[in-house]
Amino acid sequence: MTDSATKTDDFAARSIDLDGKVALVTGASRGIGKAIAFALAARGARVALNCNTGGSLAEQVRDEIRGLGGAAEYYAHNIADEDEVQKMRDEVIADFNQVDILVNNAGITRDKTFKKMTREMWDTVISVDLTGVFLVTKQFIDPMAERKWGRVVNIASVIGEIGNFGQTNYAAAKGGLIAFSKSLAREYARKGITVNTVAPGFIKTDMTEAVPEAGLKMVTDATPIGRLGLPNEVAAGVAFLASDAASYVTGHVLDINGGYSM
Ligand SMILES: NC(=O)c1ccc[n+]([C@@H]2O[C@H](COP(=O)([O-])OP(=O)(O)OC[C@H]3O[C@@H](n4cnc5c(N)ncnc54)[C@H](OP(=O)(O)O)[C@@H]3O)[C@@H](O)[C@H]2O)c1
Repeated sequence: MTDSATKTDDFAARSIDLDGKVALVTGASRGIGKAIAFALAARGARVALNCNTGGSLAEQVRDEIRGLGGAAEYYAHNIADEDEVQKMRDEVIADFNQVDILVNNAGITRDKTFKKMTREMWDTVISVDLTGVFLVTKQFIDPMAERKWGRVVNIASVIGEIGNFGQTNYAAAKGGLIAFSKSLAREYARKGITVNTVAPGFIKTDMTEAVPEAGLKMVTDATPIGRLGLPNEVAAGVAFLASDAASYVTGHVLDINGGYSM
């Protein structure tokens, strides 16, 4: 063993504290994104909250975070629109100066069997769930590389790993997001940036409210833990990946699905 391998520092616990960091969370007005915003703020990050049309909900999240002593602001911009994303970047940088942690969480579904799926349903899902991630990441990752520290956490889905009846568009977007993240991880690994994906199973949010009761029963029956997940159970994984504790984790897909797929 060399001296460096036995240094006490090498055995000190890595911090999950996010003090001094600025995080941007897309789709943070409700559901999983809201829980992520709270989880990052609770660990000391200042948080920029993005949403599309739900500005009044995002405003409430901002106020709740401020009420807990955190720093937050919200930005209602459609991540599928390049001009809007540029505006968001300018506003976030004006308020917070930089973004250290980017959580690409915003996502939508437009479910139909392939036979009934229209071109519009395909394009809409790809434009938000995949192109939106490209557009937002483009604005923020290179400045992270210049500072030699950054975290990108992309919220995919178990559906991107195993597929689903009635979700060819969503599965393609989320599967694409996993492959995008691994490629980006390789490109930025030596620039101090880790890029990871969280793949939730079925989580209690507005998105799963749209799933019929019988469908949810089939899911919980097939889930070893026997229930849907909660937004804060996804957020806990994101907080870990965003922290220094995850400094040697990149290109990973973290399944948070109660054992639904393993
Ligand atoms: N819930 C689940 O079971 C589950 C499972 C696996 C993966 N996921 C993924 O987790 C993420 C969050 O899901 P969720 O269940 O929390 O969804 P949700 O409750 O429907 O919330 C979606 C969030 O995304 C925002 N959003 C949607 N389109 C946007 C756009 N074009 N630009 C900016 N923001 C936009 C929404 O804001 P507005 O209201 O302003 O549009 C909202 O804040 C998604 O990527 C989803 O695919 C969810």
